[in-house]
Amino acid sequence: MYTTAFLDLPPLLTAGGTLRLPGSKSISNRVLLLAGLSEGTTAVHDLLASDDTRVMLEALRALGCDIQQNGDTVHITGLAGKLSVLQADLFMGNAGTAIRPLTAALALLSATQGGVFTLSGVPRMHERPIGDLVDALRPLGCVVECLANEGYPPLRLAGGRLNLSRPIQVRGDVSSQFLTALLLSLPLVSQEQDLVIDVVGELISKPYIEITLNLLARFGIQVQRQGWERFVIPRGSRYQSPGHIHVEADASSASYFIAAGAIAGIEEPVRIEGVGSASIQGDIRFIEAAEAMGAKVTSGANWLEVRRGAWPLQAIDLDCNHIPDAAMTLAVMALYAQGTTRLRNIASWRVKETDRIAAMATELRKLGATVVEGDDFIEVTPPARDGWQHASIHTYDDHRMAMCFSLAAFNALAPTADASKPVSVRIEDPRCVAKTFPDYFEALFQVAQTRPDWIPVITVDGPTASGKGTLASALATRLGYQFLDSGSLYRITGLLAVEQGIDLDDDKALEQLARQLGEAISLRFDHEHIWVDGRDVSEAVRREEIGQAASRLSAYPGVRQALLELQKAFRGLPGLVADGRDMGTVVFPDAALKVFLTAAVAERAERRHRQLISKGVSVTLDEICSDLEARDLRDRSRAVAPLKPAQDAQLLDNSALTIEQSVDTVLGWWVAGWPHVIVRH
Ligand code: DC
Repeated sequence: MYTTAFLDLPPLLTAGGTLRLPGSKSISNRVLLLAGLSEGTTAVHDLLASDDTRVMLEALRALGCDIQQNGDTVHITGLAGKLSVLQADLFMGNAGTAIRPLTAALALLSATQGGVFTLSGVPRMHERPIGDLVDALRPLGCVVECLANEGYPPLRLAGGRLNLSRPIQVRGDVSSQFLTALLLSLPLVSQEQDLVIDVVGELISKPYIEITLNLLARFGIQVQRQGWERFVIPRGSRYQSPGHIHVEADASSASYFIAAGAIAGIEEPVRIEGVGSASIQGDIRFIEAAEAMGAKVTSGANWLEVRRGAWPLQAIDLDCNHIPDAAMTLAVMALYAQGTTRLRNIASWRVKETDRIAAMATELRKLGATVVEGDDFIEVTPPARDGWQHASIHTYDDHRMAMCFSLAAFNALAPTADASKPVSVRIEDPRCVAKTFPDYFEALFQVAQTRPDWIPVITVDGPTASGKGTLASALATRLGYQFLDSGSLYRITGLLAVEQGIDLDDDKALEQLARQLGEAISLRFDHEHIWVDGRDVSEAVRREEIGQAASRLSAYPGVRQALLELQKAFRGLPGLVADGRDMGTVVFPDAALKVFLTAAVAERAERRHRQLISKGVSVTLDEICSDLEARDLRDRSRAVAPLKPAQDAQLLDNSALTIEQSVDTVLGWWVAGWPHVIVRH
């Protein structure tokens, strides 16, 4: 997950390959509750791991369900409709999909079996109305107390006496989630008679009610539906575990990759696994809209393949009421269309995570589009020829804003763009995608490709013990970039040479060894660890003797040449920070920003001294000083790739700076240079 302040997306050129999407949030939490109320154990596969599902799992555990997590599968042994815990204070975070059905289920259970339960959440949760559900439960005889403000959580459910003889009324025109809560929980009390629910007002979000009915059927409960006004739960309904259940991938999340295929699936399709033509989610109908714009889609029950069809995309005029969330993706696809796209009947956008009509209009305009917005529609005309602008996209703490605007990174392909002058797209606060798709950007980078020279590189070069490794890795973390510690490649070669008894004067043998790195010899870098052929060598390569060997073999031109391609291969999306001696001069001469550290020898020696002492190595400051000087001399005076600043490097004397100050200084240069440092024309 990207937790950086912003994420710079380099221009993307093609999309293709396979990805698996995380489970649907709506399905995940419904399945968890149904499994928790059922008799027997349910193995839930492909559950979404997100804040909302965590909250639901914790609540079920507190209520006495047995829950075992095995990798992607969660085994839940349900209550079989009987309370085993009669008192619990449940913290629901900000999970609307958890608090609503749990309130209904616990109100009914407490009224029939006794017990007192409180449900509370974060402050924002206490501002989200639940009055329509409370108003439906109280006439049934449930005791529901609002502990702070009437109609809002926190709530206490404290017994009561049920009277189910009259139809149960619930409003359906504000949120369909209250009806879902009743449908999911009323089978608990259906032993004696049919239960009738009447919807008051025009029911919105019908596709979500279809998901609820569908999942109830999987758990053995056949609700009878009369139009969208009346629902009947037959007498004697009982939750029965299906044994296993797979959570489909989220169809709204699929929309971004369907769009990527339509825009950039040129040579090969984007294949999406986990959701397909048999989906029970309403947003799957996004496919029809994408096809109308030009996408070529083939599908199976649980997969989709999408490639570019008509190009440029066709502008459309569409009533989007049936796909409100996925329709946001169409607004960004409109940037690649000929003509004006009009999305209608989207008033609900105004009351979502943010006012999505206003937000969409503001951010599309930043890119150069012409946008007309109304109360319940939006019209998007792509930027005029050469009218594309670099844009830093504000995301309003709205996961869908972040995800759909990432598609603007394909702008070099747009019919009105100059393909040789792509614009930069910066996504602010990328972590907001965690609401439904924590690894969204990782998934995007898995199926998107671009020219290597469009992937930005920051180089950090400098002498031994100048702190470049620490600086470079901190920069990589702050920007969400890949990281190359090039010295480690020389050290790994040194370690293997010493272990295999290769003479350090034998440049040919050393060159041959270096050529095998990344080929016959497998390498893996994760965080602080380096794995060579499956063995953790992180400690071994830092040994003094290995540093000496690396220093010697790095002077051989053949060795340096052998490691060149391997180093270049680290240039991956969304960017790279590389540290070493010749990153800016030889390996990445086209780097967007080159930093050269010039800390004084005395200061570097003191740092190294402190480091070694803390490791229990006994050595004097003088010894270190002369060792550093000898190494500096060797690095500077070798014939190939000597240590020196690149002509266009920015010098940074970090002798008197803390690590944080050095990082902030370089990030300051990076931000000041945006967007030109990223896209060099
Ligand atoms: O940065 P370091 O101490 O881990 O590097 C180990 C050795 O590798 C060092 O003696 C210099 C050499 N090296 C190099 O020649 N070129 C690089 N880009 C990185 C390291």
